Order: sequence, then structure tokens, then C-alpha cells
Amino acid sequence: MAEHGKQKQTISSSDVWSSWLHNRSGGDADYAMVLSAYLAQMRDRVLDNAILGPGQTLLDIGSGDGLIPFGAIERIGSGLEVIFSDISKPMLSYVQKVADARGVMRQCRFAECSADRMGCIESDSADVVTSRAALAFVADKLTAFAEMFRVTKPGGRISLCEPILQDDAFDTIAMRQLLGEQPDHPQARIMELDLRLNASRYPSTVEAAAASPITSYSERDLLNMAIAVGFRAAHLELHIDVRPGLITSWDVFLSTSPHPWAPTAREVLEKQFTAKEREYFENVKRPMFEQGRSQAKDVFAYLTATKPRS
Ligand SMILES: C[S@@+](CC[C@H](N)C(=O)[O-])C[C@H]1O[C@@H](n2cnc3c(N)ncnc32)[C@H](O)[C@@H]1O
Repeated sequence: MAEHGKQKQTISSSDVWSSWLHNRSGGDADYAMVLSAYLAQMRDRVLDNAILGPGQTLLDIGSGDGLIPFGAIERIGSGLEVIFSDISKPMLSYVQKVADARGVMRQCRFAECSADRMGCIESDSADVVTSRAALAFVADKLTAFAEMFRVTKPGGRISLCEPILQDDAFDTIAMRQLLGEQPDHPQARIMELDLRLNASRYPSTVEAAAASPITSYSERDLLNMAIAVGFRAAHLELHIDVRPGLITSWDVFLSTSPHPWAPTAREVLEKQFTAKEREYFENVKRPMFEQGRSQAKDVFAYLTATKPRS
């Protein structure tokens, strides 16, 4: 099992980020299309909030496979300059190849740096700074916000979208408590297996949740950090959607994981479940996916704010 929060070892041509991003759909073409439509909604909201125009410079932090920057180029055209920034060298190499294939290299720059140490990005250089699902993984978020403030031009803005994963940790903690108090609960057998899977993906104690970058913050913390470093005219929207799960294939469920620091279900089932437990788990869960009865809860914070002109 990949211990929660620990990055898998980096190898030369891939790292934990590129492995996850390239396997996000579990190699399933149908699910890749569903996922792409789902991500496009978030991309569009971030870009709507960014209010970009020709002649501007966009910096995207944790650009991954380029969801936000390529979307911005499609929207604004050749008049937009875009900086892809990421700590992942493999992902920056990947987006360079995509930019080349799309014929947009002329308007692209690539910066290998961490969100909390963006020394290679000049101060007051970006009209808009965007980030989606990257700050979540940064331990020192306040310093990352200070860096965003430094690199944003006076009068420029940030448009962020971050998952709020605290509920996933709290649900796991609550499940553990319930099982401790009611070991004879009628659902105890499947809940115990759910707990084992969830605990490999999210912190499962209050202390661990407070210590993990992905669960130690709320949407209000993001807002407060933006204000603390100097941004003003801030607007925060919390979007919570309880909806049918996007995964409708057992193989996709086994082959994917909810975030880059989480193991796939297959890894957990193989390493932490007995053969009998695997069989029971599959008998209960597989029909839920295949009949479209699985449920998912998305919690995302959308934050915009402006750097004052003086
Ligand atoms: C979940 S992916 C999201 C990628 C992309 N923003 C998207 O919306 O699809 C997280 C990205 O954040 C990057 N990342 C992780 N930690 C980072 C850090 N400290 N500074 C900058 N980028 C980071 C990873 O390399 C990865 O590309």
C-alpha cells in the first residue's frame, strides 16, 4: 500500500504526478471522455472567473497536462501569453510536446518550480494567475499565496479552484468511530472494507487530517490566506455536488485513484484484503458501479481576488 501522503519514488521519465495524470482514466476510452467533460466544466468556470483578454499573460500553477492553459489559449487565441508552471518535470515535458503539436509554442513558456518557491517567475508579471487542484498538495499554502501575490501585476487577479477534501477524511474518521461503537452493525462487514480502502487514501484520524496538506484546510482558509497576503475584492464560492459516480466500470474503479497520493483500488485490494474479502467486496460493489448506483460527493472552492493597484 502507498502510505497516505507519501510520494511514490520518482523515476527518470515519470513521477507520482505524471503517473497519476496519465492514468487518470484507467486507460478506458469511454471513461476518459466522461472525465474530460467533467473537468471541462471546472476549467470553464476557472476561465470565466479569470476574465482574460488578448495581450495578457496567464500563469497557471500546477498546470499538469495543461487543462487550464490550453483551454485559455483556445478561448483567447494567439494574443495570450501563457506560463505553464509545475514541480513535475515530466508533466512540463509533456505539455511542451502538446504545445508544439498544437502549433502554439510561440505563446508558451514553461517554468519548473514549486508553488511556494516561484523564484523563476518575475514579480508583477502575470495579469492572471490560475490554479486548479494543485495548491491542495502544497504544505505551505500561505507562502504559495504570498508568491501568487508577488507575481501578479497590480490590478491583476487570481482564479482558483481547489478540492476541499476534509469531508473525505471526516467521513473516514466517523466510519471508524461507528465501527468501534457498533461492531455488530448490520453493514459492519462492508463498512470495515470501505474503511480500509478509504484509510489508504485519506487521513483517518483527526491528527493526521490536520497534518496532511490535502485535508488541513477549508475553503475559508483559502479565502483568509488570500486576504492575509494582500489580495482584495475576493469572492469565494463553495460548490458541493452529490451526484451519481462517474465510474460505471469495475475495471475503471480498480485501476484508478481519487488523487495522486492515493493508491488505486486494485493496489489496496491486492495488498490489504484477503481473497475472501476481495470476493465479498466485489459482489457488493461491482453491481453498484455497473448499474450506475454509486454516489459521489464533490466539494470544490472557487476563489477569485484582485491585487490592488497601489
Ligand atoms: C491533480 S494535478 C492537477 C493538474 C491540473 N492543474 C488540472 O487541473 O488538471 C496536480 C498538479 O499539481 C502539481 N503540483 C503538485 N505539487 C506542486 C507544487 N508544490 N507546486 C507546483 N505544482 C505542484 C503536480 O505536478 C500536478 O501537475
